[in-house]
Amino acid sequence: MDSIFTDMLKGVKRERPPVWFMRQAGRVLPSYQKLKSQYSFIEMMEDQKLAAQVTLLPIHDLAVDAAILFSDILVIPDAMGMKLDFTDKGPVFDNPITDCENPLANLKTDKTRLDHIYRAIDEIVKTRPKNTPLIGFCGAPLTVLCYMIDGRSTNHVFPKTVKYLYENKEQAKQLIDAITELSIEYAVTQVEHGINAFQLFETHAGLIPSELYEELFFPACKKILNAAREAGVPVIYFPKGLGTGISRITKDMTDFISIDWQMSMMDAHKLVDPELGLQGNLDPRVLWTDKKSIEAELTKLNEFASTGRKWIFNLGHGLLPDIPVENVQFAIDWIKQNDWGWK
Ligand code: CP3
Repeated sequence: MDSIFTDMLKGVKRERPPVWFMRQAGRVLPSYQKLKSQYSFIEMMEDQKLAAQVTLLPIHDLAVDAAILFSDILVIPDAMGMKLDFTDKGPVFDNPITDCENPLANLKTDKTRLDHIYRAIDEIVKTRPKNTPLIGFCGAPLTVLCYMIDGRSTNHVFPKTVKYLYENKEQAKQLIDAITELSIEYAVTQVEHGINAFQLFETHAGLIPSELYEELFFPACKKILNAAREAGVPVIYFPKGLGTGISRITKDMTDFISIDWQMSMMDAHKLVDPELGLQGNLDPRVLWTDKKSIEAELTKLNEFASTGRKWIFNLGHGLLPDIPVENVQFAIDWIKQNDWGWK
């Protein structure tokens, strides 16, 4: 595949950083909002033609350099036997895990619950414009566990999950292992169906001290990332809120680290092994402002670009639903047109 995105992942730098945005498919696009008025999120996700169509909307409408599969990280607990429901307040599991001694007792995995995602990948591969890379993904074990134990997001604090991890560390490991095992198979099957890169989303890495995170979750994340890499695609790890803990991420764990908006790219550059690439990290909320302010923020990235680090431009977290689409387009065009002094 001849693409600026897959080239960068392989370490081949062209004249500018490749650009794509987390949550580029399902939030700001008018074309998505139109479909959303006709179908529910689950209907769109489970119908391979609709899922493929939505996945490719940002390629057609925004001209980003990669597409990301239209699905959700919570399909894993759903396939483990927890019934996923999407409400006005976000995703909900009505029967969260409360059995501390034997947490997996009431769960029964049905892997066929993931089949629609593989069918969607097949459809995307068949219908995408030439040389459009497709990013597959899954949620990392702590973020997935947060929804399995708290049942829903409680302003992103997940108090039951944190208590569970402190009080039942050994039992928690059973759950982490079970999530990891299914995530590995899920990642490898995505690669077999034709994804070109894989991202692991650990949105809530910052919930617990980084030492505890590293002890409980680095081994699991490493296994999932290695499985995707061994199956044949480069991998990106997004441990949001890990802070200076990113200095302990090694190249035997991932190819790229996605940097959150809390950290500056220059600080990340100083902390992270120079052989690893970085992705990031405009604060999505800057896109609420105006073109002049957005340009001022983007201009600051020239200093980081001049370090020569392998770099994919992205946000420091996903797009928010009320961001004006023209500001998103402005940022993409600016990144593409700026002279980065790379060639
Ligand atoms: O661009 C894309 O939208 C790609 C597909 C994608 C979705 N979710 C679709 C979605 C991706 C990559 C995700 C990841 C995801 N899902 C994460 C990790 C990244 C992040 O944003 O932190 C997390 C924590 C979730 C869990 C989740 N799913 C939440 C908290 C919500 C509710 C809030 C919201 O709108 O995202 C969802 C629902 C969800 N996932 C929707 C979409 C399009 C909205 C469904 C709707 O409109 O009813």
